[in-house]
Amino acid sequence: MFADRFNGITGSAIRDIFKIIAVPGMISFAGGNPAAEALRSDVLADIARDVLLADGKRILQYGSSEGYAPLLEEAVKFLRERGVEAAAENILPVSGSTQAIDLLCKALINPGDTILVEDPTFLGATQTMRLYQANLVPVALDDCGADIDALESAIIKHKPKLVYLIPTFQNPTGVTLSLERRKAVAALAAKYDAYIIEDDPYRDLRYAGEPLPPIHSFDKSGKIIYLSSFSKLISPGLRVGIMTCSGELRRKLVIGKQSTDIHNDQLAQAIVAEYLKRGLLPPHIEYICGLYGERMNAMLAGLAEMGIAHTAPAGGLFVWCSLPEGSDALELLNRAVKKNVAFVPGTHFYVNGGHAETLRLNFSNSSALMIERGMSALAEALAE
Ligand SMILES: Cc1ncc(COP(=O)(O)O)c(C=O)c1O
Repeated sequence: MFADRFNGITGSAIRDIFKIIAVPGMISFAGGNPAAEALRSDVLADIARDVLLADGKRILQYGSSEGYAPLLEEAVKFLRERGVEAAAENILPVSGSTQAIDLLCKALINPGDTILVEDPTFLGATQTMRLYQANLVPVALDDCGADIDALESAIIKHKPKLVYLIPTFQNPTGVTLSLERRKAVAALAAKYDAYIIEDDPYRDLRYAGEPLPPIHSFDKSGKIIYLSSFSKLISPGLRVGIMTCSGELRRKLVIGKQSTDIHNDQLAQAIVAEYLKRGLLPPHIEYICGLYGERMNAMLAGLAEMGIAHTAPAGGLFVWCSLPEGSDALELLNRAVKKNVAFVPGTHFYVNGGHAETLRLNFSNSSALMIERGMSALAEALAE
């Protein structure tokens, strides 16, 4: 009865975990949500009122699929400050990076076409890709990000339509692609004429060290598609992201967007544009980095005490853990939930499953005190 594209798609494997975290009193290391303190409803309410009074007739009317002009203007500056050069006509606002991934698949992927993804990678992206019946091929990842030799071999072998990378504070592992590898990825895109998606929503959530230039800044081929999102910086509920794109691909993406939602919510675009225009983002980023950095350190301290092998991110929202071989994170989750703490078993992030001993912990959504308590509960569950 249903379309073939849903064959084998059961909905998010972590949906049940989200039911668990709704239980009152549960300490959740499971999601990837911004902290409640980071969502400035007071500031955004004022801005919403101001933009509606100033430009309401345009905002409330049908708009352009190519985006609300004041947002495009701010987006050019936002991207430039992060090392991404793109003119307004080469930026497309999207309903979060999620829509960018969806539109890219819509434009480029026929059933059976190959997409290379990091192993493990972001579950939301692979779910979208599977709906387009893509053939997902995993590429190994280490502490410096995607393995370049493995990536090149996979490009040669599979001739992918797309390569999907999360180079900064990757979801789920928290690892960051090194500078040399960023240059190497840009060189591979040029050498093999391969489209590379650089999904970079965590770039500004850096709590230590210096930022690295995006892969896009080394692009000589026009094949690097840069995705940014205001979900983790301002609000995921507004659903505003931006992507770079040009030429015929851009035309296809715009047509694809028209059939989905005509254009992004213009009030949301106007709010984000005005927020950026008023210079509110840099101090807000400083505030949330202080908040999340403290939380990350509390989690890393807890993990060090427990003696669990883990990644050591300098930012983002996640720490990735590997239990001793033979352990099962799913079993650990069942025991942990009884002690009111939840996380996501790592197996769900691998294209081909396995890796039962791994798990992902989020630290942005619990206070340092709750993290301490949660880590103690996790240590007890582990000891059982
Ligand atoms: C790597 C990555 N890309 C994209 C997204 C989706 O973000 P958006 O709200 O912009 O759709 C997430 C959210 O967790 C993510 O981790």
